[in-house]
Amino acid sequence: MMKRIALTGAVLLGSLMSFSAMAAAPLTPEEQAAADIGTRQAVFKLLSFNNGTIGGMARGAPFNAEAAKAALERIEMLSTMIPDVFAKDTRAFKGTKTMASDTIWDNKADLAKLASDLGAAAKAAQATLAAKPNADGVKEIVQAVGPKCGACHDLFRLK
Ligand code: HEC
Repeated sequence: MMKRIALTGAVLLGSLMSFSAMAAAPLTPEEQAAADIGTRQAVFKLLSFNNGTIGGMARGAPFNAEAAKAALERIEMLSTMIPDVFAKDTRAFKGTKTMASDTIWDNKADLAKLASDLGAAAKAAQATLAAKPNADGVKEIVQAVGPKCGACHDLFRLK
C-alpha cells in the first residue's frame, strides 16, 4: 500500500517536473515552425495510412467491412484538421523539408474547400460501403476518394 502511494507520488512529481520544464523553455520560433510542419505532415501520414487500407482492398487484399468503415471514418475526421494544421504560416522557415506550396497562405479558403470536399467524399463513401459491402464497393470508393487527395495535391503540394 505504502509502496503504491510512493509510486503514485513519484509519477505525479515526474509529470509535474516535466510540465514545469516545458513551461521554462518555450520553443524558439524555428523550433515552433519545425513542430508545426511536423504536425501537419503527421496528419497527411495518417490520411495516407487509412487511405492505404481501402487502396489495398481495391487492389486485392481481403475485403474487411469493419476496417474499411474505420478507415473512412478516420479520413473524414482527419480532413477536418487540414485547415487547422495550416493555421500557422511557416513560409519564412526553411529549416524543414516541406512540400507545402507557399500559395496555401494566400488561398486559405480554397484549401478549406478542398479539405471539406475530401471529408464529404469520405462520408458519402460510408454510405456506398453500407450499400455495397464488397470489393467492388471499395473500388468505387477509392475512385471517389482518391481524386480528392489529388485535387489538393495538384494545387497545393509541390512536386
Ligand atoms: C486540402 C489539401 C490536401 C488534401 C485534401 C490532401 N492532401 Fe496530402 N498533402 C497536402 C499538402 C499541402 C502536403 C504537403 C505538406 C508538407 O509537406 O508540409 C501533403 C502531403 C501529403 C503526404 C506527404 C506527408 C509527409 O510524409 O510529409 C502524403 C502521404 C499525403 N499528403 C497523402 C494524402 C492523402 C492519401 C490524401 C487523401 C486521403 C491527402 N493527402 C489529401 C495537401 C492535401
